[in-house]
Amino acid sequence: TYIYPEGKDVSQAVADEIADFIKEKQKKGEKCVLGLPTGSTQLGIYAELVRKHREEGLSFSNVVTFNIDEYYPMSPHSIHSYNNYMQRHLYEHVDIPEENIHIPDGTIMFDSVHDYCREYEKMIKEAGGIDLMLLGIGRTGHIGFNEPGSGRNTRTRIITLDPVTRQEEATEFQGFINVPRRAITMGVDTILESRKIILVALGESKASVIQKTVEEDPDSDVPASFIQEHHDVKVVLDSGASSQL
Ligand code: GLP
Repeated sequence: TYIYPEGKDVSQAVADEIADFIKEKQKKGEKCVLGLPTGSTQLGIYAELVRKHREEGLSFSNVVTFNIDEYYPMSPHSIHSYNNYMQRHLYEHVDIPEENIHIPDGTIMFDSVHDYCREYEKMIKEAGGIDLMLLGIGRTGHIGFNEPGSGRNTRTRIITLDPVTRQEEATEFQGFINVPRRAITMGVDTILESRKIILVALGESKASVIQKTVEEDPDSDVPASFIQEHHDVKVVLDSGASSQL
């Protein structure tokens, strides 16, 4: 666990690590497969990566990305979609080839979702697996949208959002009832198969769930706690998020 005084120090440290990782892969002539989340926590990290691209020439030409989740149903063009978030905060500002970007599709017909999720898993495998997975954490202990009750062996699938999560997003969607009831998310097992994991949390509102994630036994009540079972995981916090450790 790494603790920095402020959110901006966290963003800087994590963006530096991601940039170094991308460059290392570039030197070896390899592509770099990233698993990426959305959320306010990641904004500073993505802004710093964009700055590194503009001012320091950091290239994303060898980067392949798989986003961890998307609301369901959700149009990619909706202002609320994670697709839109990713375009706005990262993809449209860097030189990542469009065909290297993968985001779960919230427009798939309901009876095809199961097959689609298997297809998403297959695409990750065909890309060689995820090298580096960046994670945020929800107040319910979710990673991606693996809400409480999500087991260690879950794979990419459609899930029902926890009311606490929907409540958290209510303002964003101008009301609880407008928040989608479901989402497509990588599973806990999909996440744990990544070669490296960095989980980031900011602010006191995450302090309690971070305490459970890192100090209590792994359990599906707090799906994020399963990251303890990974051999190369970093938890990066500001002072607020670490205040109950
Ligand atoms: C959403 C996303 C998660 C993210 C979480 C935290 O629920 N599905 O992937 O980690 O939000 O969001 P924030 O960083 O805004 O607290």
